[in-house]
Parts: sequence; structure tokens; C-alpha cells
Amino acid sequence: MTFLARLVLLISLLALRISPSQLATICASQKFKNNKLYANCTDLPTLNSYLHWTYNASNSSLTVAFVAGPSKSGGWIAWAINPFGTKMRNTQALVAHTVDDGTPSVKTYVIFPHFGMVPGKFSFDIWDISAEFSDGTLKIFATVKLPEKMETVHQLWQVGPGINKTTGFPLKHDFLPANLASQGPLSLVATGTTNTRGNV
Ligand SMILES: *[C@@H]1O[C@H](CO)[C@@H](O)[C@H](O)[C@H]1NC(C)=O
Ligand SMILES: *[C@@H]1O[C@H](CO)[C@@H](O)[C@H](O)[C@H]1NC(C)=O
Ligand SMILES: *[C@@H]1O[C@H](CO)[C@@H](O)[C@H](O)[C@H]1NC(C)=O
Ligand SMILES: *[C@@H]1O[C@H](CO)[C@@H](O)[C@H](O)[C@H]1NC(C)=O
Repeated sequence: MTFLARLVLLISLLALRISPSQLATICASQKFKNNKLYANCTDLPTLNSYLHWTYNASNSSLTVAFVAGPSKSGGWIAWAINPFGTKMRNTQALVAHTVDDGTPSVKTYVIFPHFGMVPGKFSFDIWDISAEFSDGTLKIFATVKLPEKMETVHQLWQVGPGINKTTGFPLKHDFLPANLASQGPLSLVATGTTNTRGNV
């Protein structure tokens, strides 16, 4: 074989080896210390973030586990949802970080457009909120009550570098393209087409 032919063969073999692993989701191999299981999971398109979820249509409850690595050690991760549309208004965020001894902590915030986040209660029911820190990633767990017969819900996610020790507030995240693109629809019902990379 010529050098070129061997090179072409090598490249095709590599392509064959790579493609199956690219199709598989990373989230499918993620486990939780609390051994919780979810019906569905998606590798989110930015910020090395993952969403595991179970949607129970009979009582319109959405149980989620959001997995991400903070942008720096001691940083925060956040998952937010807006059951009323795609605007920031009415968006409710869950922000988790580890405290000094490594214990995870999670708080709820209400997002106000052009104003920021304020610690606060969701305008819809959310319960079973907890956080876990394992394998270098933080995990946020929660169950949300959605309006009945909802098929798609708008979600946002973010990672940040730290917590202000005085105020306890999350420090500003980066404004790189990945930080600005970290939102999208979560389809609660299957569309009929199989998509092995998830449905975000
Ligand atoms: C969904 O919710 C209904 C009503 O609360 C409950 O009876 C049912 O067991 C739930 N389904 C699953 C899979 O948890
Ligand atoms: C609905 O069902 C889920 C799953 O079975 C359960 O965890 C949740 O408590 C139920 N929610 C309501 C509002 O009844
Ligand atoms: C933390 O908050 C205090 C009070 O608002 C502020 O003075 C300080 O600059 C903040 N620190 C950081 C690192 O942002
Ligand atoms: C979630 O998983 C269940 C069980 O495997 C499946 O029937 C359903 O279609 C999945 N939902 C989505 C939105 O992919």
C-alpha cells in the first residue's frame, strides 16, 4: 500500500472507532450517591452540563437531577426553569455550591430581568430540593409541579466561579458564548423520532 492509501485506511478506521462513542450520551453513564434513577437524560449542548428527568404526566410533576462542574473550585452551578414561557420573567433558579468543608448547599432564587437574582420562593410548587457533590461535579435535585398538559418547558443553566463570602451571593459568571447559549426547550413528551443525543 502507498503511504496515502494507508493514511486513508487509518483515518477511516479511526472514524469507525469514534462515531459510536459520539452517538452515546455521557449522561447515561452518570450515577448518583443517593441511587436515584430517572427515565430520561440529556447531554445539554453547552457548559458540560447534563439533565436527568422523569416526567409524570398524570400529576404533571417533573423530577430532575441537574449535573455540572462549577467554573472554578468553590464555584456554583444553577438550573432554572420557566413554566410560563421563554422570557427571564417568572424564571426560578436553583443555585448550588459547596461550602468550605465540601458540603453542598442549594438555594432558590427568583430571576428579575435587568435586576438580577433575589433569594426567594418559586411562584409554582417545587419540593424535594437537595444537592450532592461527587466526582468533581455538583448535582441539584428537585421536583417541580408544571401546568397540566405541558409538552415543552423552557430551561436555563449556568456555572460560576464562586460565592461572595460577605453576601452569600453567587459571583458573576463568564459571558462567553457557551454561557450565553445555555438555555433551551426541554421536551417532556417524545416526538416520535428517536434521537440518541437527547432532545434539547
Ligand atoms: C405519577 O403520579 C401519580 C399520581 O400522583 C401516581 O399515582 C403514579 O404512581 C406516578 N407514577 C410514577 C411512575 O411515579
Ligand atoms: C406526583 O408524582 C410524583 C411521582 O410519583 C410524586 O413524587 C409527587 O409527589 C406527585 N406530585 C403531586 C403534586 O402529587
Ligand atoms: C461581596 O459583596 C460586598 C458587599 O456587597 C462587596 O463590597 C464586595 O466587593 C463583594 N466581593 C466580591 C468578591 O464580589
Ligand atoms: C423518556 O423515557 C421513557 C421511558 O424510556 C420513554 O417512553 C419516553 O419517550 C422518554 N421521553 C422522552 C421525551 O424522550
